[in-house]
Amino acid sequence: MKKLFGVLGNPIGHSMSPVMHNDLFSLYDINAIYLPFQVKEEDLSDAVIGLRAIGAGGFNVTVPHKSKIIPFLDEVDELAASIGAVNTVVNRDGKLIGFNTDGLGFLKGLNEIVPKIEGKRILVIGAGGAARAIFFTLAKESPIQMDIANRTVEKAARLIEECPYSISSKALTIEEAGSNLGHYDLVIQTTMIGMAPKITEQPLSLKNLNPHSVICDIIYNPLETSLLREARERGAKVQNGIDMFVYQGALAFEKWTGISPDIQRMKENVLGQLG
Ligand code: ATR
Repeated sequence: MKKLFGVLGNPIGHSMSPVMHNDLFSLYDINAIYLPFQVKEEDLSDAVIGLRAIGAGGFNVTVPHKSKIIPFLDEVDELAASIGAVNTVVNRDGKLIGFNTDGLGFLKGLNEIVPKIEGKRILVIGAGGAARAIFFTLAKESPIQMDIANRTVEKAARLIEECPYSISSKALTIEEAGSNLGHYDLVIQTTMIGMAPKITEQPLSLKNLNPHSVICDIIYNPLETSLLREARERGAKVQNGIDMFVYQGALAFEKWTGISPDIQRMKENVLGQLG
């Protein structure tokens, strides 16, 4: 019998996950289908009950439901619980278990250009949900030095306080981060600033950028944000959000099927969808 997978979000029309996962199901000859489900917040509980009742194999969860889904699941793994957000649910013999593969997806993508984060001085820009997933995952991985800069600096301080893993970290204003930018080996941009259609916006000045540093932006539309273009022009190594997106999907696929999928093929598929 065909197994059902999917993604719950609102809006969901532009999700690239269905094409990415359906291609993998066909590549590995798995009798399954992955569908997008547009679910309103007030219907989220019913949607989960329905997916459980029909024996869905698992599903992804995206904006705005990543936190709100938690009370409707049977179990949430430790990292996802500390982040307070779930993006992947696995149905294990009728039990719905929540995971967060966003942070680990980011780390796996990062490892393609920075094989080891140990000893690196890291700056995270932003203190929202995406920053939290990345910060907690990196902190869990290794005891690094990692500061956070945010428009609302109190939110950055709170994120650091709530991190359950041991870490040396300071909360900074955007201005402080900008003037101290030369200090960092790795800068991770996690806000939506620079995303289409507002492609000329930039979260901070790169005047003091260390040209030997690496800059990652989790945005993939456009593929090169204004921040990444300037960083590249200043000599830094850059990475866009495609790697994080593909790896978070690959980690979900692995949890559902036990297969570690072809990353290169997934990247080409996603780039093809972006046109
Ligand atoms: P996500 O879950 O995608 O990370 P979020 O939780 O809404 O989204 O977080 C958005 C992040 O982008 C926050 O760090 C936010 O800064 P504040 O905490 O000060 O709100 C940041 N952000 C969004 N729009 C911004 C803007 N115009 N200028 C500066 N920071 C902005």
